[in-house]
Amino acid sequence: MELENKIAIVTGGASGLGRATSEGLVNKGIKVAIFDLNEESGIQAVNELGADNAMFVSVDVTNPESVASAITKVMEAYGAIHILVNCAGIAPAAKVLDREGKAMPLSKFATAININLIGTFNVASQVAEQMAKNEALGEALERGVIVNTASVAGYEGQMGQSAYAASKGGIIALSLPMARDLARTGIRVNAVAPGIMGTPMLLGMPDNVQESLVANIQFPKRMGLPKEFADLVIHIASNAYINGETIRLDGAIRMQPR
Ligand SMILES: NC(=O)c1ccc[n+]([C@@H]2O[C@H](COP(=O)([O-])OP(=O)(O)OC[C@H]3O[C@@H](n4cnc5c(N)ncnc54)[C@H](O)[C@@H]3O)[C@@H](O)[C@H]2O)c1
Repeated sequence: MELENKIAIVTGGASGLGRATSEGLVNKGIKVAIFDLNEESGIQAVNELGADNAMFVSVDVTNPESVASAITKVMEAYGAIHILVNCAGIAPAAKVLDREGKAMPLSKFATAININLIGTFNVASQVAEQMAKNEALGEALERGVIVNTASVAGYEGQMGQSAYAASKGGIIALSLPMARDLARTGIRVNAVAPGIMGTPMLLGMPDNVQESLVANIQFPKRMGLPKEFADLVIHIASNAYINGETIRLDGAIRMQPR
């Protein structure tokens, strides 16, 4: 898809990978609507990106009404939606049995699935309904493109990641059937599976945890940059032949059990 003058929604756009993606898209001439729970960071992001280029909408991605009303606000402000990047997510850690042998409360597992997986589907399905009304554009006759954020944990979850890994594995599994469902409407669906990226989610972990994670990265031997994620999302959005796929962005890391 030709990117200039298009409209994008970025969930989780107030922080980390979503924030960098919002900036990358704005730099390509795209107007961006940031959907996030964090109002303070969302408003700050819009101030930095420029009020002519971006808007913030307070959204809980798990809530169908919240997402529906946010999509209405974007349509009122910008008139169309061509690109959706789903970055909103959480990364809780808890083992199936704790040190005392007690089972993980089911609510912990459910929260990760609800925000990461169900939240992704909730926004993607409702945005697809709107994208389907777009004019078909370009040689490929595209109406929209959706990029979801999985994780390498969706392939190799570590100890303590059963909930997170299951939520991200679900996102990996979603790409192909969603792309197939939306093929007739000219909407592509892909996912990126990042490895260890330098965002508040990772940089907030204890130093020894960060060091052991970086030790397993093959090359380049450092955390991925949020801009490298944004660059991949922009390539996926512009390359009409990438569809139904999950692309690892991970410096060849393969996660170890711990
Ligand atoms: N950082 C990494 O190394 C890494 C690796 C693999 C995958 N990921 C995935 O990338 C995505 C972004 O991660 P990040 O590192 O940028 O995290 P981050 O914590 O910096 O940003 C996540 C954003 O999502 C928002 N959010 C959380 N729950 C929400 C909800 N219910 N509704 C709306 N917004 C909500 C938060 O407010 C926050 O602004 C996540 O899905 C994460 O699982 C990150």
